[in-house]
Amino acid sequence: MKSLQIITSSIIVSSLLVGCGGSNNNKMPMMPMIPTTPTEPTTPTNPTNPSQNLPSLNILPVMIDEDGNLNDGKATYTLNANQNVDVTINTPNRSWVTPMWRYNNNPLPLVIRVNRGDDMTLKFNNQLASDSTIHWHGFKIPADMDGGPDYPVKPNGSKIYSFKMNQPASSLWFHPHPDMQTGKQVYMGLAGVYIIEDDISKELEASNQLPSGDKDVVLLVQDRRFDIEANGKRELLYMNGDMDSDGMLGNVVLVNGSAYPKLEVSTSKYRFRLYNVSNAKNYDFAFSDGREFTIVATDGGLLKNPVKVNHIMLGAAERVEIIADFSKESVGSKIEFISRAFQDDNMNMGNGMGGGNNNNNNMDNQVGGRSPNGTEVSVMRFDVTTVENDNIVIYNTIPQRAEITNRIDMSSANNIGNERQFNMTMSMGGGAMTFVINGKAFDPTRVDEYVQANSTEIWNLTNNSPMAHPFHAHAIQWQILSRNGVPSSGVDLGWKDTFLVKANESVKIIGRFEPVNVGDYMYHCHILEHEDAGMMGYFRVGDTGNIDNF
Ligand code: C2O
Ligand code: CU
Ligand code: CU
Repeated sequence: MKSLQIITSSIIVSSLLVGCGGSNNNKMPMMPMIPTTPTEPTTPTNPTNPSQNLPSLNILPVMIDEDGNLNDGKATYTLNANQNVDVTINTPNRSWVTPMWRYNNNPLPLVIRVNRGDDMTLKFNNQLASDSTIHWHGFKIPADMDGGPDYPVKPNGSKIYSFKMNQPASSLWFHPHPDMQTGKQVYMGLAGVYIIEDDISKELEASNQLPSGDKDVVLLVQDRRFDIEANGKRELLYMNGDMDSDGMLGNVVLVNGSAYPKLEVSTSKYRFRLYNVSNAKNYDFAFSDGREFTIVATDGGLLKNPVKVNHIMLGAAERVEIIADFSKESVGSKIEFISRAFQDDNMNMGNGMGGGNNNNNNMDNQVGGRSPNGTEVSVMRFDVTTVENDNIVIYNTIPQRAEITNRIDMSSANNIGNERQFNMTMSMGGGAMTFVINGKAFDPTRVDEYVQANSTEIWNLTNNSPMAHPFHAHAIQWQILSRNGVPSSGVDLGWKDTFLVKANESVKIIGRFEPVNVGDYMYHCHILEHEDAGMMGYFRVGDTGNIDNF
């Protein structure tokens, strides 16, 4: 027995060494490479096996406007943050119950759908045992309504968020943003979808240039790690591995709360609002047969011109709306949606590292581990079950009155020639990695950048660390000017609130701070563990902010 253990561990060690030397060029000699908590040997699962009985995709529930009137220009909602909500996780192999944190005790993430220009009044009741907030990701609203860490809501406390969204139809979202607890609270299950509609999106839907109704489906993608079953439940594991401070990566990819679900579709075009609301995972979404699909929207709204692609990389917090065309399929075909394998950065040290099992979407009853970025994953499947006459012809060019038809002119920037620089770096300190922006860790009592009210600015992001970071700034939707000096094209021409800055990449962006943008906002890496560890800063728009009374 003893000798067997020795043999087993020497096999593990040598395969780790092979993994480290093989698939990267060792730019990161200081990475901690000690495997984490040993896990049980794993049985590879094969989620692509067609004989499996896949769970049906959960359709996320849309909240009802409390005043009962969707068209009175007023939107009234209540969100309670709750702990210990028992959620059934369905997978191809089995189901189990996991206690999660959710809004309104609902087992699923909630969707709020409003019209552009509505006056929003949302009462938030914090029923957690810790501070929380609701941050409105991608919204152009005043800082005191933005739900940043500078406006915490205490346990049993409440806050009324009221604002008007005057921005284009888009797939936005909301999540907690308390100081140093964002990663944990989002991971435990607090996040929701916020959809704005406007007269342009409605016109395109009414004229069958965009799928709508039950052909407009939110797909919320999040990776998680589950403990073995105990007392009939499998708890979520958070930050239980040595490399988790580099970003919390799970080995089970959930879509709307289920692992590898299926959606039954007709022979038609569908619009999928694809949300990567994982803590740290990047996906390179594609269909397994490599088929083309069309991207019609990015984070902040519809594209001027839809873009045909056969894959799309989304970093944490990024969204796209895609059109999948099943009109040429025959009933009975099954189309698989995956995240392709990729070599994204130099942090991943080969797929054997990190001590976790990294099976392709492992749902067995084993301690969950770390599945690194770049591992191929089966995300979900579309089963064509009904024939329908497809009458949707996707728009070619959005109506001229849409803001996205105008590229923001570089010469209109207030800081042209003196662009704001943000350099993302990492270093080894005290046995752990630290991630910083411009050499500084977040300090809640320091404003890092002062921005003039109503100004147009160019920001330049550089990444001198060996991994990709999804950069996000509150209050604004940006246009990407260039990456490594190459002018933007395709999907990069859309409104962006979050975008990946890859290792050794530099990304130049331009944006307008509008009159509604007043006060102190955050910019940060949206790998939530980086953000919580201080890869974040404050910027103040206008002369006044709240930071002094934080
Ligand atoms: Cu979704 Cu400060 O972020
Ligand atoms: Cu945000
Ligand atoms: Cu980061």
